[in-house]
Amino acid sequence: MTNQFSMLAKTMTGLEEVLANELHDIGATEIELSNRAVSFKGDTAVMYKANYWCRTALHILKPVCSFYIRREEDLYKKIYDIKWEEIISSKGTIAVDATVNASVMTHSHYVSLKTKDAIVDRFRDMENIRPNVDTENPDLRINIHLFKNLCNVSLDSSGYSLHKRGYRIKTGAAPISEVLAAGIILLSDWDKKSNFIDPMCGSGTFVCEAALIANNIPPGYYRKSFGFEKWIDFDKQLWENIKTEALSLQTDFENEIIGSDISRESIEIATENAKAAKLHKDIVFQHISFEKQIPPEGGGVMICNPPYGERIVPDDIIKLYQEIGNGLKKNFKGYNAWIISSDLTALKFIGLKPTRKITLFNGPLECRLAKFEIYDGSKKASKHDYSLDQ
Ligand SMILES: C[S@@+](CC[C@H](N)C(=O)[O-])C[C@H]1O[C@@H](n2cnc3c(N)ncnc32)[C@H](O)[C@@H]1O
Repeated sequence: MTNQFSMLAKTMTGLEEVLANELHDIGATEIELSNRAVSFKGDTAVMYKANYWCRTALHILKPVCSFYIRREEDLYKKIYDIKWEEIISSKGTIAVDATVNASVMTHSHYVSLKTKDAIVDRFRDMENIRPNVDTENPDLRINIHLFKNLCNVSLDSSGYSLHKRGYRIKTGAAPISEVLAAGIILLSDWDKKSNFIDPMCGSGTFVCEAALIANNIPPGYYRKSFGFEKWIDFDKQLWENIKTEALSLQTDFENEIIGSDISRESIEIATENAKAAKLHKDIVFQHISFEKQIPPEGGGVMICNPPYGERIVPDDIIKLYQEIGNGLKKNFKGYNAWIISSDLTALKFIGLKPTRKITLFNGPLECRLAKFEIYDGSKKASKHDYSLDQ
């Protein structure tokens, strides 16, 4: 097959396998997992689809070249030698994102500046006119990854991060990333047919992501733009076909998706976000505390991230997690409950035996996602079950 090229999808720790499955579903090949990233092959359609459909991807990068550097000057020279005029017009704008790890060059900001200088100087030498820098909304976002002496230069086909879906117009305190929320729902193996509930929904991220999944709406549906739309080889017809096909793949959801919270303000924010996504008819919002929440009969999946740490005194946090455990035992029979928290001590006070524990990161915070299967006589935790701090 010609027209196939290598790509790299960036994600969050713990979501690599979920992302690999998503990439497989859109036709990617030669899929390989690495740390917070999945490499794969595909054609332009696969690249557009990866941006539009992959719920757990942050950026889809298209490599330009790789080279070794021994000293700082090598970076400038190698970047200068790339035929940038075949990639971007001199009248376009650029931005450079850099990550640096154990390299001769230690500051990512400096690597970005040197890269930008090399590109701009090449254009000025060749055409006497140079692309401008626009860090917010550039025509081309370039990604530099410097690990030891190896430098990977890629084009960011996503542009701004894919977690910015476009529907979350307001947030409350400590909102979870849309990518992490979608990843947790996909990890939960929710069958998209049974009930779904987040009884501490905050700004409604889990319930909105669940409604998108249940209706088979692409996570990129609401975004204003993707990086590849400004590339000089942008295939508008192909992109329109992918979006039209996606509309025909939408499905209906019959059961209930419920978001509830003790805070009235959170419920107002969550409702506004769901309206922005036109998902408000699929989600029932309730202003009610977890302790009083009685989910619909028939079982399903409960996912939430309760408050953790910072603004709450330890005694109250422990009491809250104990009440979550009591509420689960009393009201959530037939449900699989998934709780993500960075407070590993508080999690122990749920008092039920977790049947799965997965390490994830919510921003810089290391978290555990714990699964509790709630049925008549659900097992209580013994002191050995909470090697959550594995
Ligand atoms: C970390 S935030 C959840 C953030 C949410 N996942 C989002 O993406 O915006 C925790 C939420 O739990 C809610 N909460 C705290 N105690 C509660 C209780 N007893 N019952 C229901 N909700 C509660 C808070 O109001 C807050 O919205």
